[in-house]
Amino acid sequence: MTDRTNFRPLGALRGALRPPADKSISHRAAMIAAMGEGETDIVGYLDAADTRSTLAAVQAVGARLVHEELATDAVGEGDGLGAPNLRIGGVGLRGARSAAIDVGNAGTLLRLLPGWLAGQPEGRWTLDGDESIRRRPVDRVADPLRRMGARLAAREDRLPPFEVEGAPLHGITYELPVASAQVKSCLLFAALLAEGETRVVEPLPTRDHSERMLAAAGAEVRREGDTVVVAPAQRLEPGRIVVPADFSSAAFFIVAATIVPGSDVLLHDVGLNPTRTGLLAILERMGAAAIEITPKGEEGGEPVGDIRVGHSELRGCEVGGADVPLAIDELPLVALAACFAEGTTTIRDAVELRRKESDRIAVVADALRALGGAVEATEDGMVIEGGDGLRGGAIDSHGDHRIAMLGAIAGAASSDGVEVRDMAAADVSYPGFEVDLHSLQHGPPLRDPVH
Ligand code: S3P
Repeated sequence: MTDRTNFRPLGALRGALRPPADKSISHRAAMIAAMGEGETDIVGYLDAADTRSTLAAVQAVGARLVHEELATDAVGEGDGLGAPNLRIGGVGLRGARSAAIDVGNAGTLLRLLPGWLAGQPEGRWTLDGDESIRRRPVDRVADPLRRMGARLAAREDRLPPFEVEGAPLHGITYELPVASAQVKSCLLFAALLAEGETRVVEPLPTRDHSERMLAAAGAEVRREGDTVVVAPAQRLEPGRIVVPADFSSAAFFIVAATIVPGSDVLLHDVGLNPTRTGLLAILERMGAAAIEITPKGEEGGEPVGDIRVGHSELRGCEVGGADVPLAIDELPLVALAACFAEGTTTIRDAVELRRKESDRIAVVADALRALGGAVEATEDGMVIEGGDGLRGGAIDSHGDHRIAMLGAIAGAASSDGVEVRDMAAADVSYPGFEVDLHSLQHGPPLRDPVH
C-alpha cells in the first residue's frame, strides 16, 4: 500500500545539518571511476536509490566494487568530509563488457552512460528502467550520438528501452537544441572515444560537473565561450573524487527557512558550483536578505561552503532565460516560495520541467493549488499570485522525489499541514529527509543567530 505521511506546521526551523551528497556528482563519479585505470576512491558517495542504480550499472559493465561503506549518515553533521566510502576498480575507457542495465529511476544514468558505451565496438547494451524512466526521452542523446557514428535503437525511436551497439565514433560540432547538462555530458563522454575533437555548443550555461571531473582525471577539456571542446583520450586516472553535499537537497531547507518565520538553519559543506546555485539569485531578487554563505574552498574542483538561512519577507519576481538551467531542479521550490511572496511570480522558458521525473509544471501547479495556492500552469512555466501562503491539504508525489519533499516543506510552512501520498519517493535522492526535517522542526536555537 502506498504510504501517506503528515507534515505539520510546528513553527520555526532551527538547527544545523549536512545535506546528503550531491546526486549529479555521485553519478558522474561512479561512471568516470569505471572508465578509469586502476582504483578510484570516492569520498562521500551518495547512498540513495538513484546512485545505487549507477553503482549496479558500472558493475554490470565490469567495474569492481573494491570497498563499499555506504550509509545515509556516513558523514557526520558539520564535520566535513571523511574517509572514502567507495573504491571502484575501473575497466579503462575501452573495457566495458556487454550487459542489460537497469537504470531504475535515474535519468542521469540513462542519458550519460550510453555516451561512454557507444564508442566501444565490441559491445552491446540495453538500458531500461521503471515506469517513469520509460517516459523520459532519449532521442535528445540518440540524435547527436548517431551523428558521431553511434548505432542505437529506442522504442518509438525516442523512449527506453535504449539499445546501444558499440561502433567507431568521430568528433562533431553540436549545438544543443535544449540547455541540458545531461545531453552535454553524454557527448563529452562519447568524445573521449571519438576520432578528432568534439565541440558542444550550449545555448545557455548548464551544470559543468562533468567538465571539471574529466579534466581532473586527465582529459583534455577546454571551454571556448559557449562551447566545450574535448579531445580524444587514451586513459583516465581519476584517483580520488570528493563529493560535496547536494545544493538541490539543501534547497528544500533554504526555502523552508526563508518562508517559515523565526527560522535559523545552517547547512554544512554544500556544493556551491555557480552552475547549480541559481536558486540563490532568484531568492535574492525576491527579497531574501537572510542568506549567508561562508565559502570553504574547493574540494576536487568543486567549490564548497556553509549556508545559513533565516526568514525573509518575499516579493514576486520574473524567472526565465538563463535562470532556468541554473535552477532547473529548484523551480518547484521557487513556485512554493512564490505562494508566500507579495505579488506575482512568473516562471517562463522552463518547458523542460515537463520532462523530469514527473511533468513538474502540471504536478506542481496542481499540488500547490490543492493546498490553497493561486497557481496557473502555462505551457513553459507557471504564474503564481502570492501573498497568503498555503492552507494545507493532501497531495500525491506521483513517485517524484522532489515533489514528495516539496509537499513536506509546504506542510511545515502551511497553516493546517499537508498529507503526502508516496513520501517514499524521496529515497531517490534524500533517504534521510524526514529525519532531517524533523530535527530542524524540533531543534534548539543555534548560537549566534543570523539576526
Ligand atoms: C542533471 C541535469 C539536469 C537535472 C537533473 C540532473 C545532471 O537535467 O534536471 O536532475 O546530473 O546532469 P537536464 O540537464 O537534462 O536538464
